Amino acid sequence: ILTIAAECAPFAKIGGLADVAAALPREWQEMGHRNLIVLPKYADIDIQRHQLHPTEIVVSVPMGHWREYARVWKAVLPDSDAEVYFLESDDYFERKGIYGNPDGFADNDRRFCFLSRAAFELAIVLGFETSIVHAHDYHTALSLAFLKTHYRYHPLFAHAAGVYTIHNMAFQGQSDPRRVLDFMGLPFANFRGSWFEHDGVFNMMKCGLMFADKITTVSPTYAEEIRWTAKGEGMQDYLHMRAADLIGVLNGVDYHEWNPEHDTHLSTHYSPSSLDGKAVLKAELLRDAMPASEASVDLPLIGMVSRLTAQKGIALLEESMEYLLQSGELRFLILGSGDRRYENFLQRMGRRYPTRALIRTGYNNAISHQVIAAADFLMVPSLFEPCGLTQLYALKYGTIPIVRATGGLNDTVHEYNAQNGTGTGFRFEKFQATSFVRAVRRAVHYYKNEPHWHRLRQNAMASEFSARGSAENYIRVFQWALEKLRA
Ligand code: ADP
Ligand code: GLC
Repeated sequence: ILTIAAECAPFAKIGGLADVAAALPREWQEMGHRNLIVLPKYADIDIQRHQLHPTEIVVSVPMGHWREYARVWKAVLPDSDAEVYFLESDDYFERKGIYGNPDGFADNDRRFCFLSRAAFELAIVLGFETSIVHAHDYHTALSLAFLKTHYRYHPLFAHAAGVYTIHNMAFQGQSDPRRVLDFMGLPFANFRGSWFEHDGVFNMMKCGLMFADKITTVSPTYAEEIRWTAKGEGMQDYLHMRAADLIGVLNGVDYHEWNPEHDTHLSTHYSPSSLDGKAVLKAELLRDAMPASEASVDLPLIGMVSRLTAQKGIALLEESMEYLLQSGELRFLILGSGDRRYENFLQRMGRRYPTRALIRTGYNNAISHQVIAAADFLMVPSLFEPCGLTQLYALKYGTIPIVRATGGLNDTVHEYNAQNGTGTGFRFEKFQATSFVRAVRRAVHYYKNEPHWHRLRQNAMASEFSARGSAENYIRVFQWALEKLRA
């Protein structure tokens, strides 16, 4: 399995894509499959910490009518023997950041074209006989076109199927067609109406959708939403065309990393049979954050760990957070980074309510574990959410999710039913502050309200969304893709 991705944890991570691009090959390797993972060697990667070593390999990558070169580095995926290869290129990756957010680097088309092509050339140097080319998101979608054009008859790829996984339809990689086709070494002549074109420009997402043998996205609900609603972001027609080859495969969690019984980022541990440790973690966190007299006030603690972008529903917090804080019934504990406007808003809340709104901006993996463990609830009020991982972590930690019922949140969190004691969290449908506030109120009502509180936390902790299960489902998709190819 040749995995080509723009992110892979712990080397290079912005969001959940990195977690998934690491968890799947790790599981596949353990299941006995051979993996080759190809990433850019971004300047931000800590080569000491992640033990990257230079190899002797220099790949020569056709870009249009010329060739470009990348020196190759290597590491192993932590807790695995899966090999990860990194492409070093001063021109493309020797700069700060992965995408150049918020606007994106002007040459992202060229950078990702290079990555998508270089992966094949590296596989050739290594003699890696490929069954599956697995591309993640628009960044590496061009590899699926390369598989069906330049490498179609290459002995290492002639029997390989291409699988495309959509993590986020909102980013599609639009660019100038003459430019990209030139880099790809393909003619511009038939661009209009081709598998590369959408609305007159080159669209990498569409290219992935059209050239893949099978298409997956990261939850069954999102697989429906992108076909039938505006969440398809203009790709609906192509998804309809490819409907027979499209399936939702839910993400899973690496429970070696995310497990309250042995999480290395926590000072004490707990399990479903004894949640005392969770109370200790909450008390510790509050004690560090405020005067003891304040910290001893027992209020429900609502956590959040998130990129701060429109997708994540921060607009609902802007409308309702202060109102909820003024009720004096709860506390917020938020770790996030992203849009300046949202960071400023949260920091303002933190200053105004220093003992009720605990805000931490920036990216910090250790703190993300601590927030999820210490909080009583975790809110994910997303506008849209292809899958979402933090609610899955939260469930395992007995931290009750409050989510908007969209995408993967809809598939993984079930409303608590007080009559029969089923359900794992609280949900709301409409993207409106009033609906969100009602869900928060419902949730808070059950805080330490027995026997419900005990039942809820037990139900949550019993939920299973393992990376292994997800990896097995992908293998089924891969087999399905290979059967299609043979037929
Ligand atoms: P998305 O990929 O859309 O950001 P996911 O929920 O799938 O959403 O994945 C987000 C991942 O990034 C999770 O592993 C989450 O813990 C992590 N994360 C998000 N924000 C931060 C942050 N500020 N610090 C540390 N980890 C974060
Ligand atoms: C994307 C989505 C998120 C999903 C993640 C991993 O970043 O926004 O919902 O969990 O990819 O698939």
